[in-house]
Amino acid sequence: MNQEQQEPDPDARGGGSDGASPFASLPVTVHATAEAACGAVAAEVVDLIQQRPDSALGLATGSTMVGVYAALRRLLGEGGVSLGEVRTFNLDEYLGLPPKSPASFRAFMEAHLFEPLGLSSDQVSFPASPDAEASGQSARSARAFEASIEAAGGLDLQLLGLGGNGHIAFNEPGSRPDSRTREVELAPRTRADAAASFGSLDAVPLRAVTMGVGTILEARRLRIVALGEHKAEVVARLVTGAGGSELPASFLAGHPDVQLHVDAAAASLLSVG
Ligand code: GLP
Repeated sequence: MNQEQQEPDPDARGGGSDGASPFASLPVTVHATAEAACGAVAAEVVDLIQQRPDSALGLATGSTMVGVYAALRRLLGEGGVSLGEVRTFNLDEYLGLPPKSPASFRAFMEAHLFEPLGLSSDQVSFPASPDAEASGQSARSARAFEASIEAAGGLDLQLLGLGGNGHIAFNEPGSRPDSRTREVELAPRTRADAAASFGSLDAVPLRAVTMGVGTILEARRLRIVALGEHKAEVVARLVTGAGGSELPASFLAGHPDVQLHVDAAAASLLSVG
């Protein structure tokens, strides 16, 4: 496989036994390696910042983003690109963590991007504080978060990972396509997937605040990254449209500028036409 875009087999599209699924297939670019996928996405972010120094970037967390942010740090350093005017907005955050928990998404971002790039705290926004209580009190901060995205002129580009159950951010199966930033309960599969980062399943929070699907769809560009064989099944369901509304990521297929970047392992169940 190489870096050119490859279309999945048209016979496998459309999903659903009645063949009338409203879920289009998602445009996918297959890269030979994870490094190539991460590099391509990072290069696009750098291009955007060079064209528009005051870009509003939507950022994601998770192991997939480790490689994307490593490539981004490298390319920004090589290009001498200034980030002084950039604003960033993270997709989601756990609730109910101890203060300064290293498992919070804020801690992840500090380690992989904000500190190495010298971003100041007034350049970065999260939909919640990780030590906030899970009690429905997060509605006000969720509204303030959405207002700050609007005040920044909307998101120029949103980076996204892909949950093993097809979630995007923490929009779990059953999320509505018009959902907004809100407090949610995490799916059992999502908590199980996160157990390693917390040391045990019991330590994984039950609730989080996430940007909504509707909020995400308003970003001008969406770039989703899925790497590794463990993502092959969900990628195949997503790319063919077969997952329908059970896969929240399916809602992104209707976006005018969306691209899913995968490595060969994550593409291994796609039949390429
Ligand atoms: C978490 C995040 C998602 C992310 C997902 C995938 O659930 N809330 O935004 O996409 O993890 O993580 P990974 O890249 O580790 O597979």
